[in-house]
Amino acid sequence: MARFTLPRDIYHGRGALEALKSFEGKRAMICIGGGSMKRFGFLDKAEAYLKEAGMEVELIEGIEPDPSVETVMKGAEAMLKFEPDWIIAMGGGSPIDAAKAMWIKYEYPDITFEDMCKVFGLPQLRKKARFCAISSTSGTATEVTAFSIITDYSKGIKYPIADFEITPDVAIVDPELAETMPKKLVAHTGMDAMTHAVEAFVSTANCDYTNPLALYAIKMIKSDLIASYNGDIAKRDSMHNAQCLAGMAFSNALLGIVHSMAHKTGAAFADYGAHIIHGAANAMYLPKVIAFNAKDETAKKRYGIIADIMELGGANDDEKTALLIKYLRGMNDALNIPQCIRHYGADSYPAENGFVPEKVFLERLPEIAKNAIGDACTGSNPRQPSAEEMEALLKCCYYDTDVDF
Ligand SMILES: NC(=O)c1ccc[n+]([C@@H]2O[C@H](COP(=O)([O-])OP(=O)(O)OC[C@H]3O[C@@H](n4cnc5c(N)ncnc54)[C@H](O)[C@@H]3O)[C@@H](O)[C@H]2O)c1
Ligand SMILES: [Zn+2]
Repeated sequence: MARFTLPRDIYHGRGALEALKSFEGKRAMICIGGGSMKRFGFLDKAEAYLKEAGMEVELIEGIEPDPSVETVMKGAEAMLKFEPDWIIAMGGGSPIDAAKAMWIKYEYPDITFEDMCKVFGLPQLRKKARFCAISSTSGTATEVTAFSIITDYSKGIKYPIADFEITPDVAIVDPELAETMPKKLVAHTGMDAMTHAVEAFVSTANCDYTNPLALYAIKMIKSDLIASYNGDIAKRDSMHNAQCLAGMAFSNALLGIVHSMAHKTGAAFADYGAHIIHGAANAMYLPKVIAFNAKDETAKKRYGIIADIMELGGANDDEKTALLIKYLRGMNDALNIPQCIRHYGADSYPAENGFVPEKVFLERLPEIAKNAIGDACTGSNPRQPSAEEMEALLKCCYYDTDVDF
């Protein structure tokens, strides 16, 4: 038996934020990040709509990018005091993911972070509150997914919490919120969405329900992302839908080792002053993982189907896979994303000498590879890597060398 779960309602299109007016409840806790929702007036609008609906509103603000376990615990305490019956998370993946984890802790104050991370092991939520997610970036699709990514900075590891219990009740996909994204964010979140769709399509958990969503998302992202990056607002609006379709696919089909590697490298060098931003990590690793997975015949066929929907040409699946890899690398170039960790600058742009020193990378490699294999996304990858293969793959991602194993 398989399960396909999405939010009960997805309000989409310009002005969809107004849906908040129709919510029924007593107290709404709005959760936001560092200030973009405030700065661009969306927080005021949301508050006004909720008040119009007769609700008392309180705010948790300042949720940092790549939110920490501590932020989650602190937010849950505020929720326990205010006792909201609606949690309204607005912003990028970070504040929405943090709010999802706060929600778990609010519903079950005794639960530990470790317990939360047991894959598909959460107790039933919605005893205290329902959850609405309003995305302002076009990538994570956390507004429709069963995932939340929280970072344990003491370990330098990102942990996915995965359970349909945290699939939001309502998603609001209003493109106006995403129009204010700076270019770099468009690039990173857009390639995150592309990775979601590609990984979902080749995942061992793909099915008839997820495949059309993944393929159509890929088609849209190919047509829209670079133009959106270069300032086309209609394409930017379209990307907001495309990333959401990709999210619907991967929330139900799961992901693969591109994400395992991104989760385990993202914060691993934070002591050197930067993160490898999630979307950029995916963009760099995706072509390498395609080359690795394509040794599996079924996966190679499916990459062929992706190349076909992208109209890349190619006479057979080997050629199609090679063209797909080439095209994705071209997208990285067009979006000013480096091709490998060695050239990943602290500002995320390509640099001759990236911020992760070779020596440090090699020292930490065995541990990172071990963690990546243990990541929740590895199980559904079409080819299961050994520890040695994962190390070799990560090396290719560091040096930008060909994957020939
Ligand atoms: N839950 C999931 O299914 C899932 C999937 C993929 C990634 N993630 C996680 O999501 C996080 C990344 O989320 P993200 O890429 O959305 O970025 P983010 O939420 O970390 O935001 C990045 C920055 O962009 C700013 N910002 C957000 N929206 C803006 C807008 N419209 N205009 C201007 N600035 C804006 C924020 O203030 C912040 O400074 C990572 O922790 C990643 O691991 C989660
Ligand atoms: Zn992602």
